[in-house]
Amino acid sequence: MTTVVELSELAEHFRQSDATFGASPLYRELCGVVADDEPTLELLMRRRPGQQPSFLLFGAVHHLLLGGVEHELRDFYPSVVGTPARDPAAAGPVFLDFCRLHRDQVAELVGTRLVQSNVVRRVLALRCALAALRDLVDGPVHLVEVGASAGFHLHVDRYRYRLGGRDFGSPDARLTVESEWRGDAPPPELTHLPEIGSRTGVDLHPVDVRDPDQRRWLRALVWPEDRPAAGLLDAALAQAVAEPVRVIAGDAIDVCPDLGRQLPAGEARLVFHAATRMHVPADRRAAFDQAIDSMGADGPLYHLWLEPAFAPHHGERADEGLLAWHGPDTTRPVNLVRVDGHLRWMAPLDGGP
Ligand SMILES: C[S@@+](CC[C@H](N)C(=O)[O-])C[C@H]1O[C@@H](n2cnc3c(N)ncnc32)[C@H](O)[C@@H]1O
Repeated sequence: MTTVVELSELAEHFRQSDATFGASPLYRELCGVVADDEPTLELLMRRRPGQQPSFLLFGAVHHLLLGGVEHELRDFYPSVVGTPARDPAAAGPVFLDFCRLHRDQVAELVGTRLVQSNVVRRVLALRCALAALRDLVDGPVHLVEVGASAGFHLHVDRYRYRLGGRDFGSPDARLTVESEWRGDAPPPELTHLPEIGSRTGVDLHPVDVRDPDQRRWLRALVWPEDRPAAGLLDAALAQAVAEPVRVIAGDAIDVCPDLGRQLPAGEARLVFHAATRMHVPADRRAAFDQAIDSMGADGPLYHLWLEPAFAPHHGERADEGLLAWHGPDTTRPVNLVRVDGHLRWMAPLDGGP
């Protein structure tokens, strides 16, 4: 009985994934086909708790193709064959055939990997909050990213940025993070930051940026059509190898309380998470929130998040597409700016799409 319910929930998940994959015609096409194919859905019943099924399945197949598995399916992936790839409209049966032929390999990846997509552009969210902190905090700010994956965002002061026709940040950086500013007013001033006292990531499974297989897994989680994101990822990997940051392995629920005590007492800490709380199983989210709150016991805590509306922080109602945070001694969210979940665009709170 449980199996039947799970399968129908999975099918529903794929049927409703169209909106998620707005920027990927290939994945949009595949969602409908997977929704109707029980053997492929069954593969996902072995995934680790909380893992987003469509990202995981598409990531597993993409990982195998990027690794050189020979199959007609590769012709549909711009990331594998370059452009032009074949018309996605014909990809469905070919995808199912791939999953049938390579079932054991797909099952192994789906059962062991985590959705660790590290979207480099989301660093702009952290940059906004850090720039805003300059007027609120005297002294250094300690950065903590929960669900840091490979830790790309913790290099926030080492990148160059382009937003609304303006450049910010480090002029000789390895990469430029670019986003569209959808507002008549000028974009926020992001040049000046407070001193960064320390930078620490926390992740269930920190990505080892020197390991080719783990690099390929990150690459596989980028949608096949998104060549700019793949290029940014490669540049961020080079940055992460050149100046490694500490990412502690473990569940944030266990790690954060100790980490908070280890930071210098009285000094500000900015704790950030993006697309992470959504992967924490629903019955663990209150403990996740408490673990982050506990980091404010010994110093002013600023907590910044970018999560979908279906996983509202502290149960507060949230609107889709808002970057929000709260300062010390409260858990009440304050909205900072409107954003797309992948930071393709930003907009002022009183404007935008
Ligand atoms: C979808 S990725 C997002 C990575 C990054 N924050 C970004 O926005 O690009 C989610 C990350 O959260 C990590 N994660 C999920 N649950 C976690 C938990 N309870 N504690 C620590 N890390 C967690 C996963 O391992 C994964 O690397």
